[in-house]
Amino acid sequence: MAYRYLNIENVGKRYQTPNGALDVLESLDLRIENHEFVCIVGPSGCGKTTILNLIAGFESPTSGRLTLLDEPIEGPGSDRAVVFQEASLMPWMNVQSNIGLPLKVKHVSKEERAAKVEPLIDTVGLKGFERHFPWQLSGGMQQRVGIARALAMDPQIILMDEPFGALDAQTRESMQESLVDIWSKSKKTVVFITHSIDEALVLGDRVIVMGSRGTGVKDDIHVDLDRPRDSTTVPFNELKKHIRELLVN
Ligand SMILES: Nc1ncnc2c1ncn2[C@@H]1O[C@H](COP(=O)(O)OP(=O)(O)OP(=O)(O)O)[C@@H](O)[C@H]1O
Ligand SMILES: [Mg+2]
Repeated sequence: MAYRYLNIENVGKRYQTPNGALDVLESLDLRIENHEFVCIVGPSGCGKTTILNLIAGFESPTSGRLTLLDEPIEGPGSDRAVVFQEASLMPWMNVQSNIGLPLKVKHVSKEERAAKVEPLIDTVGLKGFERHFPWQLSGGMQQRVGIARALAMDPQIILMDEPFGALDAQTRESMQESLVDIWSKSKKTVVFITHSIDEALVLGDRVIVMGSRGTGVKDDIHVDLDRPRDSTTVPFNELKKHIRELLVN
């Protein structure tokens, strides 16, 4: 059998709701390679978060299977970290403690924690804010703490669900730049959900375009554009137009 890094194989997901059964995913096939930056776009309710929850192991598939390095995903694990739209930091912990929290949970010693957290603070550009509490930070800074906290686990895969959706345009752009920077240095695999076609094309090696609920993957686009990506170029805008057409039809 061919080696696959992250393999989503013939996956179906059915939720039970007060209005009866809801088939959100039906025979979804998706292969993600190591170090890839994969963006997922699609209409609201098509199952993007569901896919992320399945990869994270928060949910299990109704049919089919998910494997990571040929091992079935059977629950959450420290090899996969999730960054949500809200940073969901601990309000009573400062930046340093919030970032080190996953290590504390794993009973890593205080000294070792400090040694691991320090370079991460640098990575996400929060030097000088170590002792600040979440309420003393802007939304973008809080989100950077959330990203550093995800990196602290040293996961193989970072799962991001519209992490920059609540940020203003300028902060968002600088966060995108730092994420690409972090990704290219850390060589993690990133699965990134967004509603913004521009964001997907600025970030992704691949853009997966989902159809409406239950219809699955409409297109799987290899984004062969130089980085940093320039959203004013013709090839960029051709891809953008193509994705937009897929999303409206
Ligand atoms: N735990 C659950 N129980 C029942 N229904 C659910 C559950 N989670 C999601 N759903 C339903 O499944 C569908 C897909 O939800 P999901 O959150 O995966 O969509 P999404 O693509 O992330 O949408 P959005 O872009 O709005 O975030 C929706 O109709 C939602 O109401
Ligand atoms: Mg969602």
